[in-house]
Amino acid sequence: MLRKLFILVLSLFVLTTYAAEANGIEIIPRPAKVERGEGYFRLTPRTRLAVKGDDAERAVGAFAAKVRHATGYALSAGKAGSANVVSFVLDKSVNGDEAYTIDISHDRVVCRASRPAGLFYAAQSLLQLLPAEVEGSKTAAADWKMPVCRIEDAPRFAYRGMMLDPCRHFLPAEDVKRQIDLLSSYKINRLHWHLTDDQGWRIEIKKYPELTKVGARRNMFDGTFHTGFYTQDEIRDVVAYAAERFVEVVPELELPGHGMAAIAAYPHLSCRGEQLTPRVLWGVEEVVMCPGKEDMFDFLRDVIDEMTPLFPSGLFHIGGDESPRYEWKKCPKCQARMHELGYTKEAQLQSYVIGRVEKYLRTKGKTIVGWDEILEGGDLDTTAVVMSWRGEKGGIEAARQHHHVLMTPSSHGLYLDHNQYDPALEQISIGGNATIDRIYAYDPVPEQLREAGLGHYVLGVQGNNWSEYTPTAAALEARLYPRALAVAEIAWTPLERKDFKDFVRRAYGEGARQLDSRGVRQFIAQPAQPGGSTERVAFTDEVEIALEVPEGMQIVYTVDGSRPDAASPRYESPIRLSSTTVVRCRGVLPSGLMSPMREIWAERQALAPACRPDTVSPGLLMNVYPGNFRTAAALGSAQAAKTDSVIKKIETLRSMAGWLPAVDGYKDYAATAEGYISIPEDGVYEFRTLHAQLFIDDRRLIDNGDIFVLRSSPHNAQCALRAGLHKIRAVFVGGIFDGWPTYWNEGNVDFRPSGGKWQKIGADMLFH
Ligand code: ACM
Ligand code: ZN
Repeated sequence: MLRKLFILVLSLFVLTTYAAEANGIEIIPRPAKVERGEGYFRLTPRTRLAVKGDDAERAVGAFAAKVRHATGYALSAGKAGSANVVSFVLDKSVNGDEAYTIDISHDRVVCRASRPAGLFYAAQSLLQLLPAEVEGSKTAAADWKMPVCRIEDAPRFAYRGMMLDPCRHFLPAEDVKRQIDLLSSYKINRLHWHLTDDQGWRIEIKKYPELTKVGARRNMFDGTFHTGFYTQDEIRDVVAYAAERFVEVVPELELPGHGMAAIAAYPHLSCRGEQLTPRVLWGVEEVVMCPGKEDMFDFLRDVIDEMTPLFPSGLFHIGGDESPRYEWKKCPKCQARMHELGYTKEAQLQSYVIGRVEKYLRTKGKTIVGWDEILEGGDLDTTAVVMSWRGEKGGIEAARQHHHVLMTPSSHGLYLDHNQYDPALEQISIGGNATIDRIYAYDPVPEQLREAGLGHYVLGVQGNNWSEYTPTAAALEARLYPRALAVAEIAWTPLERKDFKDFVRRAYGEGARQLDSRGVRQFIAQPAQPGGSTERVAFTDEVEIALEVPEGMQIVYTVDGSRPDAASPRYESPIRLSSTTVVRCRGVLPSGLMSPMREIWAERQALAPACRPDTVSPGLLMNVYPGNFRTAAALGSAQAAKTDSVIKKIETLRSMAGWLPAVDGYKDYAATAEGYISIPEDGVYEFRTLHAQLFIDDRRLIDNGDIFVLRSSPHNAQCALRAGLHKIRAVFVGGIFDGWPTYWNEGNVDFRPSGGKWQKIGADMLFH
């Protein structure tokens, strides 16, 4: 009890020191300049609101509605600058289209900006100065105070973007609007809307109805399908909704690659014109649009004619990435086009397409944006904006050629479809590493550009969320938050004001509370084990379980079977165990919000004795079961069609010639490999695999059966083994799981001695 009390006092101490540093100013992104005074301004039932002019009304209308709703106060009209009035004033003396100032004294609040956008941003900052309940759905009895302060604020970059991809998984218009609303609170001002791709076409084009009839529907191998598209009315509605929040929507029409959904609807768009379907697998489709055909350009022109009136933005994204050129090499029309133009490389055809589309869009008053591949092949018009995604290289090269650039390098954490912390402990992602500290550390102006005096070509920065692994709006939200806050801060806050410790204090404190008030299912990291998380720990005498969480968080845990809560012991140092124990733990934010609970089963084991078969031969025995099983459990008592072939490596389970798919004529199957593994010396060993199941000595050590798509090994497990032969059985379940074929996975089983390095199980270790 004393120990608990001590820990509680200690944690209160930690929380209060945070609060003292904070001075109550928790705004994200961090403003350019903040001076804190003494005390607070308090909203009361008599507080009035002064907003002059229709433009200003529009900019702060949502703020007023939120505050009225949450406080229950009328906030009737008052005189600007008077006592007990919150004033929003358009004032030409504030420099910058998005800049604003806030003066909060004990008895009044005055926000100024030269443009409505600035007033909107002042209002977002005020909301973040108020208690988080202001974001709630109910009227609350909070202490409605704001700290006395003066804020002068303006963005570092004009373009502060987020990309959403409704192609791989459709995101209904209402969910897009919710994201616009959330993101605009953090002063994100561009939504890059990726509307067309191989796996789905998502925008209604009246002249080409098959685009949404055929191109918006992806029929899966298991008989299910995925569908959805935006009508032009919905698009107009979303664009208007965004404009009210000072978010400009930049549409993307992908060309000439990533166009399979369009080609499925209108096969003549491709070189060979064969009838295909929207791509069922993730990844890059080799069938692309044919630049040898004039009617392909007619199509693009017609689509652009319908798209441009929907999007007032001066920018129009034309994709341009990942467009394989194999088909062009073989296509007589493409080759004739090259001949006619004197081209020697297919890459020039890529710039030919981009160039023609650019010229056409210019007649509509649009500047093109394209992924950094648009630099390939040369001849890119200097007005084109280059979006650097394959690292910073494209952006640097583009700026050297005097293009404006937008930085969104996947190599620096700007791909939010990458992992947030420990891939074993979070919703499945496409892979890669985009931890919040990594995002925050990114400076969108590469050093080479700064040194060369070319930094001004960088218009801004953007986070991208490709949606292969965000099938629902809720999954998307857990992906975006809190990391979108880091993107917002690197886009808005002056470089010299960036401070990661202060950022996590805000993002994990008031920031998390505000998101929670808005019902956002934000990601909160579960405690991980350094060097890779294992949920089944084995030990022979005693063991220490070390845990860690991202900077700025803490851990609570129990070893008595109870569910950890705020009063549970805080983790300070590795947990020492000498008997079988379930460690239950949760990550804790300074806001008090907690991660879901994690359980680690630590089992005291005797070293399992080795087997002594009379004779053994190299390799494992493989059995193959044709059919669509989906899970290892469904394999049950199925009859193997092919039995007891000898394989040298476990990965052969998923790469059997003859069973393996092209996309058409794909055949599902499951397969098992069994025999013995030779363990080099006595000890505790950990195993990991992306197969459905792994048995050691007839014990089911790893069961990934509950996981629909495996991209990282979530259920690593340890066992204590004597040197010598142990039975091993691996179960592979082939199939395409929502765009991911399991045969794309690493097919081996890895092992490591406890605390040691991961190794593949080699052919020399396997017998039957
Ligand atoms: C991209 O990620 N293919 C732009
Ligand atoms: Zn062609």
